[in-house]
Amino acid sequence: MSELAIEVSNLHKSYGSLEAVRGVSFDVRRGEVFGLLGPNGAGKTTTVEILEGYRRRSAGEVWVLGHDPEVRDRGQQQRVGIVLQSCGFYPRVTVREAVEHFAKAYPRARDPAGTIALVGLEEKAEARTKDLSGGQRRRLDLALALIGDPELVFLDEPTTGFDPAARRTAWGVVRRLKDLGKTVLLTTHYLDEAQALADRVAIVKDGRIVAEGPPDQLGHGRSRYRVAYFSNGRRVEHQTDDPTELLHRLTRDALARGERLDGLEVTRPTLEEVYLHLTADADSV
Ligand SMILES: Nc1ncnc2c1ncn2[C@@H]1O[C@H](COP(=O)(O)OP(=O)(O)O)[C@@H](O)[C@H]1O
Ligand SMILES: [Mg+2]
Repeated sequence: MSELAIEVSNLHKSYGSLEAVRGVSFDVRRGEVFGLLGPNGAGKTTTVEILEGYRRRSAGEVWVLGHDPEVRDRGQQQRVGIVLQSCGFYPRVTVREAVEHFAKAYPRARDPAGTIALVGLEEKAEARTKDLSGGQRRRLDLALALIGDPELVFLDEPTTGFDPAARRTAWGVVRRLKDLGKTVLLTTHYLDEAQALADRVAIVKDGRIVAEGPPDQLGHGRSRYRVAYFSNGRRVEHQTDDPTELLHRLTRDALARGERLDGLEVTRPTLEEVYLHLTADADSV
């Protein structure tokens, strides 16, 4: 069994003359939470829907659990959990009835009550789906995606529109999926969400990956250290790849002049600064 759950290589997708995905390549390891992070229109949903088998690609190679998702395969579909957008579900059934109903469709379904608990809906198990809040309905959608006990779960913008408490609950669910050994591909336009959940992140902009790596290292490869201090009341800032050498030179010269470098600090750009820089529109840089 390959240790890669997803392999995407040079993926392209055009809608008419619009090239929404322009040569995207990435791998997701088994058991990993991988985040596609980028602004609206970056091509995240298009990429995910191709991996789910809902859209045909224009070019490139895609492997999901060792299969080409364009080739329909029922066994394969049961290994993948897809969160459907709540579409006209019978409004009068309860959460428990909905989950139990879906469980019957799978040979190795998870326990319905345990799955309801997994998404934090125990207290709503007997509520009718029409009486759920938006966030609770999204959690029900997630329970329905998980009931077949998939190995791989796709979550497209799982918390968009959630209030802070609902976001925290959803984050907890993703962490529990990881603890269960599931592979998760999530998309988000929230930097903090990618940072909190993803083992690795690819930043997508205009159909291309502009940076990739563990969230806490993403900025480092491309961002330089900043060394700042005050001189005669004015802030002086240098950028460098080698702060050891620069600090040595600055402090040596200052000491030779009998000065001190007030407020001396060495920092790196935060991931937020890197993200905003990478995803900024050309005309707003
Ligand atoms: N079915 C479609 N037909 C035409 N254009 C589309 C379609 N779906 C998405 N697009 C366009 O493709 C680009 C990428 O969209 P999408 O993949 O939804 O991005 P994201 O999920 O990152 O917001 C956008 O410019 C969007 O308007
Ligand atoms: Mg989208």
